Amino acid sequence: MPQRIRRIAITTGGGDAPGLNAVVRAAVLSAKRRGWDVLGIRRGYEGLLDPEKLVQLDRESVRGITHLGGSILGATNKGNPLRWPVKLPSGEITAVDRTPEVVANFHRLGIDALIAIGGDGSMRIAHALSQQGLPVVGVPKTIDNDLPGTVLTFGFDTAVGVATEAIDRLHSTAEAHERVFTVELMGRYAGWIALHAGIAATADVILIPEIPFDIDAVCRKIMEREALGRHFSIVVVAEGARPVGGEMVFQQRGDGPSRLGGIGELVARQIEERTGKEARNLVLGHLQRGGSPSAFDRVTAQRFGAAAVQVVADGGRGVMVALDPPEIKTVPLADVIDKLSLVPLDCDTVKTARDIGICLGDSWEERGVW
Ligand code: F6P
Repeated sequence: MPQRIRRIAITTGGGDAPGLNAVVRAAVLSAKRRGWDVLGIRRGYEGLLDPEKLVQLDRESVRGITHLGGSILGATNKGNPLRWPVKLPSGEITAVDRTPEVVANFHRLGIDALIAIGGDGSMRIAHALSQQGLPVVGVPKTIDNDLPGTVLTFGFDTAVGVATEAIDRLHSTAEAHERVFTVELMGRYAGWIALHAGIAATADVILIPEIPFDIDAVCRKIMEREALGRHFSIVVVAEGARPVGGEMVFQQRGDGPSRLGGIGELVARQIEERTGKEARNLVLGHLQRGGSPSAFDRVTAQRFGAAAVQVVADGGRGVMVALDPPEIKTVPLADVIDKLSLVPLDCDTVKTARDIGICLGDSWEERGVW
């Protein structure tokens, strides 16, 4: 017999993704229909360490938010209770585990279950809390689409759409000026966005983290196009792409944290040096995460939100809802953490790219004759 639920909490952890608000609204409405009380935790898990960050969520507070980007609960990559930064008297920063406090607050507030919306970091926290006895149901979010256990995460479709439109727009100016454009897209470990947007917008080269690239192979493709009278090329580069034997590229600003990025510019410079063609770089950055979710993401997000509440009602714990078309299923959080869903090199999308002549940055010979 499932435990009687009176109050649940919802958190949106990690970076934002289009569709967060749609999940929150669907979960709130589904919970309210069951007569449950719903608390929103502002700024990820920080809220459970600071009661001022808790907000009551009712029908009115989620009115008209399905189409909105961002998150009404805010978003932060900081505030991991598993590794909370603390400054020692020596000035040194150390990390402490504050999950026991989160668990205590949870019980004190009479919260019967937590719906944790987030990516890999948030699912790791959700799993840790679940292991300490908190009933948690995860919802997979990330534009990178790199969470295992689900065919898709919400936010991915919107990011691909934004990137596709941007590359479409670059085509005409690239052709008019006979330039090469590199387009740096998000995708830290997984090249899903670059692969899908690159194919959708008919890029000539797509560089993804899963396939270390050879700049000579990239330049050969560009010069092959040149010989065919196509004096422009579009090179899509995932931010986590790296050359064979090389490393991912990070940027350091002042004393701040080093941030992934810069590979697009590096590839553009190398193309210019090797081919003599003018190469410009565009970094699409957070445009891929901002704005209105696509219709597909709105539907997926709402299915996830409603399903998460149903799982809580049915007594499900320590699981993540997942898309397994045509169904929404659940997978144990333990099976999701510390793994990434990378682009399988033998998947039909990769084969399609190769078959239609897109260079994936690996050796010319391996791709066959083009
Ligand atoms: O996880 C999604 C993602 O968009 C990554 O592709 C990217 O590296 C990261 O978030 C950027 O995060 P932030 O906005 O914190 O710099």
